Amino acid sequence: MEGVIEGFFGKTADGKKSRIPALQDKLQSLSGLILAVFMLCHMIFTGTIIFGKEAFNGVVSFAEPFGIHQITNFIAFVIFIIFLIHAFLAMRKFPANYKAYLAFKAHKIRMKHCDTTLWWFQFLSGFLLFFFASAHLIAIIFGEKIDANLSIARFHQLHIFYILLLIVTVTHASIGTYRLYIKWISIDGVKKEEMISKRHKFKKLNFLIWGCFLAFSIVADIIWLIR
Ligand code: HEM
Repeated sequence: MEGVIEGFFGKTADGKKSRIPALQDKLQSLSGLILAVFMLCHMIFTGTIIFGKEAFNGVVSFAEPFGIHQITNFIAFVIFIIFLIHAFLAMRKFPANYKAYLAFKAHKIRMKHCDTTLWWFQFLSGFLLFFFASAHLIAIIFGEKIDANLSIARFHQLHIFYILLLIVTVTHASIGTYRLYIKWISIDGVKKEEMISKRHKFKKLNFLIWGCFLAFSIVADIIWLIR
């Protein structure tokens, strides 16, 4: 009954608003943070190919004690679940119809604010990740033991897919970590000028770190292709 009352009036019977949207926001941020940190580790992992096949296979053996490759399949499954939760929660923020899309577009044009435009990029890259990241994760979950030669073969066959996946992931994750800072950290107990200056500094640092990781991964991708 509570749900029905809230569904009609937007409030519960005792006049309170639901805490669920706030909880959903927290969960979305937390799952996004886990995925962003995972991605930074992942880029170091795939980047080890720069130091040779042995280095890459060494990291795989470290992650799979006693050669149990199902450990990686299982980790990929857990990441997929976190990815699905994150994507499901993010869907709430998508424009629900053409009218909502036009309203956002008009707002974006009028605001001419970098953060609003970044949100739009995050929306588009997030939408693409639904397909790109799902395809990659399903291949890893049901795939055989990871090995440098197998990955080299996959890169040769699917290099356009991997480079697109990389660009879309870095775009999405870098904007995501910047927005996490704006949303949860930058507003706490500081004066407006101080807050704006800290935001600028964090923005530079955030995009510099992701930019370095992207450059490192592009070098790694070239190595994958010439091996
Ligand atoms: C536990 C989960 C994951 C594992 C074990 C894994 C493993 C791998 C492996 C072995 C490669 C080399 C190519 C291949 O053999 O397919 C690769 C490439 C790649 N993966 Fe993943 N992956 C995981 C999750 C993800 C996720 C969630 C994303 C992004 C949303 C992602 C993005 C990429 C990208 C962009 C590449 C291309 C290499 C690069 O440029 O860094 N992976 N992954």
